[in-house]
Amino acid sequence: MKKEISKFKIYEESVQSPRWQVEYLPQFHTWLVGTKPTAMREDFSGTGLISCEWVKLSKKNRAVGLDLDLETLKYANEVNRAALNSSEQKRVTFLKQDVMKPTKEKFDWIGAYNFSFYTFHERKQLLKYFKAVHKSLKSKGTFFLELSGGEGFKETTQEMKRFTIPGLGKFQSIWQQHQYDPISSLNHYSIHFKLPNGKWINDAFTYHWRIWEIREVREILEEAGFKKTVVLWENADEDADEYLPQEQGDYRRDWLAYVVGVKSGS
Ligand SMILES: C[S@@+](CC[C@H](N)C(=O)[O-])C[C@H]1O[C@@H](n2cnc3c(N)ncnc32)[C@H](O)[C@@H]1O
Repeated sequence: MKKEISKFKIYEESVQSPRWQVEYLPQFHTWLVGTKPTAMREDFSGTGLISCEWVKLSKKNRAVGLDLDLETLKYANEVNRAALNSSEQKRVTFLKQDVMKPTKEKFDWIGAYNFSFYTFHERKQLLKYFKAVHKSLKSKGTFFLELSGGEGFKETTQEMKRFTIPGLGKFQSIWQQHQYDPISSLNHYSIHFKLPNGKWINDAFTYHWRIWEIREVREILEEAGFKKTVVLWENADEDADEYLPQEQGDYRRDWLAYVVGVKSGS
């Protein structure tokens, strides 16, 4: 009997670029605080791909991923962690834990990718989360938040993408944006996948997000105790995969950015 293709595998191939994240982003940590990070926490870790890439990069690296969903954590452990060698496996752990709760272990850098923190709709929830991260960082720690926004991220639309997964075949994904509510700043998003046999997985993943703006995120980080925040703004040439620290952004219909919180001032 043919094994079913996991929706998590399709998600990873369609959405994520973990190697780039673990090679590129820590350079900004070093630039900001002058040390090379080794201990990483991946918040909203999902299948934990970023944590697994981080421990592959150096024998010094350790990673802890936090997620609440048992099925996702099972995939992280039984597929992604299991694919690592034994030294790498010893250096990565996935915990069923709410990111709202500080971890006992303290980290050099903590990241929340793919706009996952948009799951918090209220300012006081976001403040509580940022305070919990602040407590979980070492004194020279940094916190990376990935954001998306602009009119293009709010409008009702869908975007189709074709991609191939080696050994599994040709896939399509549709990213669907529903109706944005300008009063609450909330919107629904969903992702659908078309399998090589022509079958669709509708609503493979769905999100109910508040669209946070960069400025308010910086303000809340400062309120949570972060001494400095930096915005990494995407290069206009999207294919360059390059972000630059900027205090003013050029207008875009769609934008991607990282906001970095630095725990201690220099
Ligand atoms: C959009 S997925 C992120 C997957 C992956 N990190 C990525 O960057 O593509 C969001 C994940 O956050 C988890 N999650 C939602 N609320 C959480 C919370 N309060 N604490 C920990 N994990 C949470 C969900 O279970 C889900 O797996």
